[in-house]
Amino acid sequence: MAQVISGKDLAASIKAGLREELPQLEAKYGRKPHLAVILVGEDPGSVSYVKGKGKACEEVGINNTTIRKDVSITEAELLEMIDNLNNDPLVDGILVQLPLPKHIDSDKVINAIRPDKDVDGFHPMNVASLYLKQPGILPCTPKGIVRVIEHAGIEIAGKNVCVIGRSNIVGMPVSKLLLDKNATVTIAHSRTKDLASITSQADILVAAVGRPLFVKAEMVKEGAAVIDVGVNRNPETNKLCGDVDFINVEPKASYITKVPGGIGPMTIACLMENTFECFLKHVK
Ligand code: GUN
Repeated sequence: MAQVISGKDLAASIKAGLREELPQLEAKYGRKPHLAVILVGEDPGSVSYVKGKGKACEEVGINNTTIRKDVSITEAELLEMIDNLNNDPLVDGILVQLPLPKHIDSDKVINAIRPDKDVDGFHPMNVASLYLKQPGILPCTPKGIVRVIEHAGIEIAGKNVCVIGRSNIVGMPVSKLLLDKNATVTIAHSRTKDLASITSQADILVAAVGRPLFVKAEMVKEGAAVIDVGVNRNPETNKLCGDVDFINVEPKASYITKVPGGIGPMTIACLMENTFECFLKHVK
C-alpha cells in the first residue's frame, strides 16, 4: 500500500506561510503583491483554472486582477494589454492562461511578457535561466512536483526517474530540475519504444502525458514513487482523473499522488510564491 501524498495539504501550508509573511511585507514596502491574469475565451477548463488562481490570491491576501476577453480579441490587442501591464509599476505578475485561440501566436504573447513579471516561468529568458542554472523564475507545475517529492522525504539523488511527456510546461522543465538534483532522468514520449520496460525501471515515475489512466500497474516498479500530473476526464464516468490508473497502481507504489488534490493545488501555491518573488524584485 502506498502513502498517498496530499498536494492539497502541502499547498495549503505554503499559502498559509505566504499569508503570514504578507503584513510585514506590506508594512515594509507600502503595498501588496499584485497578480494580473488574462483569460481569452470561455474554455471551461481554463475558466476553472483561472477561478482557482483568483481564489488562491484571495486566500493569501494578494491583489488580483482577472481580465476576461472575448475569443475575438486580436493578437495586437492582446499584445497591447500586456504592454500596459508590463509598464504598470503596481503589477508584479502577468499570467496569460493557455491555450490561446488559434489566431493568436502563443509564443509571441509569452515573449511579450517582461521576464521579471513572468510568473509562469515560460519566457525564453526564464527557460534559459533554468537550463543554465542561473537565477530566474521556475515554472509552477515542475516546481510543485519537486516540492511534493522532497516534502514526502523521497530521495532524488542517484535515483532512476522516468518522466513520461516532453512538454515545455511540464515534461522538459521537471526533467531538468530533477537532473539538477542528481537523478538519472529518462524522458519518455509518444514515440518511445517498449515504454513499459523503461517506466518499470523508475524509482520515481512522473506521468505528464495528458491521457486518462494511461499508466497501468504493469508499467510501474514495485515500491516506486508515482507522481500524477494529468488532469483529464475519465471517458466512462466523466469525472476528473489523472494519467495514472490509481486503483491498480497504488498497491504497487510506495508513494503516490492523487487527482484531484495532488499536483494541481501545488501549481497554484507555486504561482503564489512566484508572485511574491516577482514582487520582491520590484520593491527591493
Ligand atoms: N494552461 C495549462 N497550464 C498552464 C499554466 O501553468 N500556465 C498557464 N498560463 N496556462 C496553462
